[in-house]
Amino acid sequence: MKKSFIYGVAVEGDNFTDREKETKRLKQDFENGQNVVLISPRRMGKTSLVRKVQSVVDKKKVCVVYIDAYDCRNEYEFYNKFAAALMKQTAGKAEAVMKNIKEFLVRLSPKVGFSPDPNSEVSLSLGITPKNYSPEEILQLPERMAEKMGRHIVVCIDEFQQIGEFQDSLSVQKKMRGIWQLQNNASYCLFGSKKHLLSTLFQNKRMPFYQFGDILFLQPIPTDDWKPFIRHKFEEKGIDIPDELIERICSTVQNQSSYVQQLASNVMLNAGNVVSEQTLEAAIEDLLNQNSLLFLQQLEGLTAYQMNFLKALAHGIHSNFGSKEVLENYDLGSKSNVSRIKSVLKQKELIEELPNGTMFTDPVFELWFSKEWCE
Ligand SMILES: Nc1ncnc2c1ncn2[C@@H]1O[C@H](COP(=O)(O)OP(=O)(O)OP(=O)(O)O)[C@@H](O)[C@H]1O
Ligand SMILES: [Mg+2]
Repeated sequence: MKKSFIYGVAVEGDNFTDREKETKRLKQDFENGQNVVLISPRRMGKTSLVRKVQSVVDKKKVCVVYIDAYDCRNEYEFYNKFAAALMKQTAGKAEAVMKNIKEFLVRLSPKVGFSPDPNSEVSLSLGITPKNYSPEEILQLPERMAEKMGRHIVVCIDEFQQIGEFQDSLSVQKKMRGIWQLQNNASYCLFGSKKHLLSTLFQNKRMPFYQFGDILFLQPIPTDDWKPFIRHKFEEKGIDIPDELIERICSTVQNQSSYVQQLASNVMLNAGNVVSEQTLEAAIEDLLNQNSLLFLQQLEGLTAYQMNFLKALAHGIHSNFGSKEVLENYDLGSKSNVSRIKSVLKQKELIEELPNGTMFTDPVFELWFSKEWCE
């Protein structure tokens, strides 16, 4: 049976809602060769959005190449993935992949795995090493290929923060920026989920990628756009859901895309022909249980001070942690201790600094934490 709600993986088709403005804007950027950086908290819908734009760009003008850097542990692992994606995704058929390699990576003898299933991807092991190709030659590939093809290439790099974890990362970033910024026929869309790491890469004046492109902060999908989406899914199953309860689904998880779908799915599973307040309560309970193991892991290794800080947040304190009152009420140690606590919790992505103060990054974690540790 077809699932009504999908969460945790990139979505498309009728599982993708709204994002019209963002789709239009990114499409324009891709077609105009504008470099972009896309940043948002986790699970907000970056990958889904880029995939969507990839499907709607004018393919006669633009070829979009998508790379996920999540498993690249060092510079050359990245170059291998980067080059393989370019070879494969600019070619329609397997033979064209081989032709690409012969033309653009002449010094390699790659291993190519053809699957009998015509829909599955060609597996490609290029064997790029510092002995056969320099970083510069690999980083130049998009420009060379785009010139040859007579089409613009947009290289989308997902989980780009991974590059910040490489050994000697700064020099890798310098090479990338130095080469990519001079290219006329290739542009880049860099995005990922670790917000504080990405902000360091792109918003710090001393970093090579500073002002590399337009920065787009992906905002939550508004409740008014979720309404028809959720209503339609319930109607398909013959279930009636009041508007206020859809609003409550959205507000409970602060409109964080993946959680909206997960909570809506729980509501549907708990519902009869109608959805009531009790259905929603049970669904929230399920949501907390489904995530509790993960949340417990996130608390592992936290000190008493760090836990105390989270309790203060859960009690609605978002600023002035260094005041005598807060320090004493929550046992946070000294004022300077507070900045150390914050910095660790930010590293762990548990909290973030927003214009209205220090906040939990994850709305469901916040609910769970308040319930488990503050009651
Ligand atoms: N436009 C959308 N319409 C409906 N649901 C969406 C949309 N975008 C994202 N979602 C929901 O959010 C989930 C996560 O989406 P996606 O993987 O694209 O986010 P992400 O920001 O790339 O996440 P991550 O931080 O894990 O990389 C999806 O499974 C889906 O439930
Ligand atoms: Mg993603």
